[in-house]
Amino acid sequence: MPTVLEADVRAASTLPPSALDARVSTDRFPPPAIEARGLKKGYFGVQALQGVDFTVATGEIRALLGKNGAGKSTLVNILCGAEAPDAGTLAIAGRPVEVFAPGQANALGVATVHQELSLVPEMSVAENILLGRWGGHRRGGWVDPAALRREAAGVLAEFGVEIDPAAKVRSLSIAQQQLVEIARGLSFNPRLLILDEPTSSLPASEVEMLLRTLRLLSARGVAVIYVSHRMDEIPRIAHSVTVLRDGRHIDTLPIAEAPTAEIVRRMTGGTSGIGAEAQRRRPARSPGRVALKVNGLATATKLKGVSFELREGEIVGLAGLLGAGRTALMRAIYGLDPVAAGRIEIFGEAPADRSPRAMIRHGVGLVPENRKKEGLVLDMSISKSLVLSALHKVVHRALLSRRREGRLAQRATERMSIKLASLSDPVRTLSGGNQQKVVLGRCVNADVKVFLLDEPTRGVDIDAKHQIYALLEDLAAQGTAVLVASSEMEELMLFCDRLLLMKGGAIVGEREVAHTDLAEVMTITMGSAVSSTRLETR
Ligand SMILES: Nc1ncnc2c1ncn2[C@@H]1O[C@H](COP(=O)(O)OP(=O)(O)OP(=O)(O)O)[C@@H](O)[C@H]1O
Ligand SMILES: [Mg+2]
Repeated sequence: MPTVLEADVRAASTLPPSALDARVSTDRFPPPAIEARGLKKGYFGVQALQGVDFTVATGEIRALLGKNGAGKSTLVNILCGAEAPDAGTLAIAGRPVEVFAPGQANALGVATVHQELSLVPEMSVAENILLGRWGGHRRGGWVDPAALRREAAGVLAEFGVEIDPAAKVRSLSIAQQQLVEIARGLSFNPRLLILDEPTSSLPASEVEMLLRTLRLLSARGVAVIYVSHRMDEIPRIAHSVTVLRDGRHIDTLPIAEAPTAEIVRRMTGGTSGIGAEAQRRRPARSPGRVALKVNGLATATKLKGVSFELREGEIVGLAGLLGAGRTALMRAIYGLDPVAAGRIEIFGEAPADRSPRAMIRHGVGLVPENRKKEGLVLDMSISKSLVLSALHKVVHRALLSRRREGRLAQRATERMSIKLASLSDPVRTLSGGNQQKVVLGRCVNADVKVFLLDEPTRGVDIDAKHQIYALLEDLAAQGTAVLVASSEMEELMLFCDRLLLMKGGAIVGEREVAHTDLAEVMTITMGSAVSSTRLETR
């Protein structure tokens, strides 16, 4: 019922005056949903939080912002009881929490969607959503899968998501998995919902759905803590923002007093190298030979005859909605998934066999969407991880010299401004965004002629995003052919020469970036009637 909903949303946008000042706690207003004082947390050499106060009112949506490694996830982990602070106090709905065991969080009404996906791939969507709560669905001692599916379907429907509750999580895309994680958080009916970068891999339409759901929850009095690097989302959803920098609380402001430029200034401490995005000038590039030629590529389940060419020194973007086939296309090209039909040529040569190994030999590199599963070994050192894909280059000289590894790793660290304590630390000690930078940092070192990048800027902060754009532009300037998928279409328009517009496993349009705009790209990828008449123009 949209009218009721809209009224609710309007009501939610007027918060009690105590919302931003935790010390005021009158009888008229409920106690803050969560109140933290003097939180400290250190990991070996790193002081991740250095005495942070943090209070969120009932029904308030608070954006938690900061650069990669600022301490956002650390704060989230403490607020939800996943980690204990070294010092500080915590109260939930006015009740001090002494021993805050992880299992307690849900009982206290706190649900968290963590930055790193934590689903069990071999279980179904329904089992994952209701994980640990199958008790009510037992029949004669056995869990009744139909009852589980029904309840999960209810949660998904309320959230507006169309995912089969019986599907195995393993078979879902990253974006769909992220939606399942969020649905799981919602299923607890929490009074405080914490979301650590929930939209980092969601395309526009799903982001809208989530923002709508959160506004509705807020109107019902649910407090929300929202971590995101997508600055455009913040003014649309948050009542207030908190900025962290180097583990310190820098500022908490009502959203009306925090224009994006101000937030960025506080995040970076005024050192951001980013000018106005409008001033960004794309260097004129002159594409060379055809580096990658794909003809009629089809897979059993997703791709329906995809054909395109990618030239040396060219950056081509893959735009499309959730499930459009961007990841499937990259995986098929790279030889990760079997191909039903079609031909792939690298500089006019078709690789003898279709495997990642053969593609690497031909100079093709892939930066996968799922860094945890395919990109990174979390226990490996940062230094080794940075040179891994350049290994054939290092090993070529018959020995993996430590000094050489160190030099390559050092170069990538500087290039990507990776925030770390020591290069020999395991990758797992890095913040989410810095892990992503490691995956990308390799490409500085690797000897790659055709680059496939799937969501390269997922979860990295605004400065790092621009570093990555610059990196891709440098690679292109050196003659590398770059194919990049992103669910943020605005960003593709910043640094791509050309866009391939995907929908339903096919390329449904192609545009020079200079001759199109966001509205047109969105219309075509969403596939309304207007767009289909335009498709013939390619
Ligand atoms: N388990 C750990 N061991 C060692 N250091 C850690 C660990 N977890 C986090 N850190 C360090 O603490 C600091 C804060 O990390 P945190 O994950 O909170 O950052 P973040 O703000 O969430 O960043 P991002 O935007 O990249 O997710 C970083 O310097 C990180 O390297
Ligand atoms: Mg984080």
